[in-house]
Amino acid sequence: MRALTRWLSGPAGPQSFPYSAVLEEFHRVGKHFVEKKFLALLDQARARVSGLPAAGDEPARLLTDFLDVALDKWDGRYDYRSYLALRLLRLPCGLDDPPPAAEAAAARRARDRLLVRLVADTLAFELAAAAGTTELLPQRRPGPMVVTKRCRLGVRAAAPALTRLGLAGAFGTDGPATAAAGLHALARYLAIPGDPRLRLSMLPVHVTHDEYLFIRVLQGYECLFAGVADELRWAIGVLAGDTPGSAADRLGYAGDLLGAAGPLFSLLATMQPDSFRTFRQYTEGASAIQSRSYKLVESLCRTPEPDRLDSVAYRSVPEVRARVRGGQPTVDQAYRSAVSEGRLDGLDRALVARRMAGFAETLAQWRRTHHRVAVRMLGTRPGTGYTEGTPYLAAVSGAPVFTTVTIDPPSDSQSLGDGA
Ligand code: HEM
Repeated sequence: MRALTRWLSGPAGPQSFPYSAVLEEFHRVGKHFVEKKFLALLDQARARVSGLPAAGDEPARLLTDFLDVALDKWDGRYDYRSYLALRLLRLPCGLDDPPPAAEAAAARRARDRLLVRLVADTLAFELAAAAGTTELLPQRRPGPMVVTKRCRLGVRAAAPALTRLGLAGAFGTDGPATAAAGLHALARYLAIPGDPRLRLSMLPVHVTHDEYLFIRVLQGYECLFAGVADELRWAIGVLAGDTPGSAADRLGYAGDLLGAAGPLFSLLATMQPDSFRTFRQYTEGASAIQSRSYKLVESLCRTPEPDRLDSVAYRSVPEVRARVRGGQPTVDQAYRSAVSEGRLDGLDRALVARRMAGFAETLAQWRRTHHRVAVRMLGTRPGTGYTEGTPYLAAVSGAPVFTTVTIDPPSDSQSLGDGA
């Protein structure tokens, strides 16, 4: 409290804001339990930074983004996006998102780097907690076998992104813990020097160890969904042009991104259900049903039916709902037009259809795996997004991804492992 009071009483600017002291206070008790007095001081800090002439510069923006996350419960606007600190991670979270980068390769690399760093950071926390070198989130530490398993699954989850970055095999794999430490060392080189955003994006609501894993896995999937949404948007643009056959590459890339991320769910499945139930008491109101990127992916594939668009699924993401109502183009429509106008036929058409079917199968698999993890962790309890919980997920998991291509019935091949 003292560091914050001192900062407030002097002329210091956002660049010398006492982030570490504030984080320490949040981590000591969990965001849900931070004292009102402390939050009131942060509120003053927010008023100060918003009144600065340089309110648009990077230190001021960073502080604004951080306080947006830190003060969500205080303001009564706590939700999924603020829980995951999506804005701090520069992931899509609302109306004022930057448009998708014009340069696809750079955007892909930036996402891959972030994904690797998120996973590496999770494993670093697991290793530090196991070694007793951190007191962060001390409740319900997992046993050594679970830590080893997390290291193995985490390294597997980061592997596809490392391969895409040309960094496969860049560290030793001499046992899961060594590999995890190697991954962490490598991830440091993927960060923008001095950028604290990843560190600031960890504000758990409670002090249960496994919430760290939960937050990072969700952030990892948000990063992937944002990437998939970009690929689908590019695919739609290409389907509308003169060489619609090249949309196959984008669709294939989108499917590979999501498909290769399976180990992230296996990693999450090691979460201890009791731990999950402990911290989720304080996450009421934050649900991935508010994930803008996921709904964007779904609605870029095909236009949702009117009853889905009017349900809590889309009412939880009003900006995506508005886009759909405004006639957002879809892969389904773009493919249909390309075929009916004679621009897409023969082998090109077959390839695009195959990639669409492959993507649809991958998304359907994601939904089935998600449902299984949710059943394991949640049982019959309702969701934090005000649905009845897993029955909602069961009902939506079979919805067709596209109407123009169909997929084979589920094989349910993806295993979650045996959890904790
Ligand atoms: C402990 C693990 C998890 C549980 C128990 C769980 C539970 C649920 C529940 C009950 C819902 C329905 C909405 C609600 O009432 O909250 C939901 C929706 C959703 N979850 Fe999860 N979830 C888990 C992990 C994840 C992860 C890791 C992701 C990845 C981002 C995710 C993404 C989603 C999405 C996108 C929806 C919206 C689906 C739709 O509206 O069709 N969930 N989840």
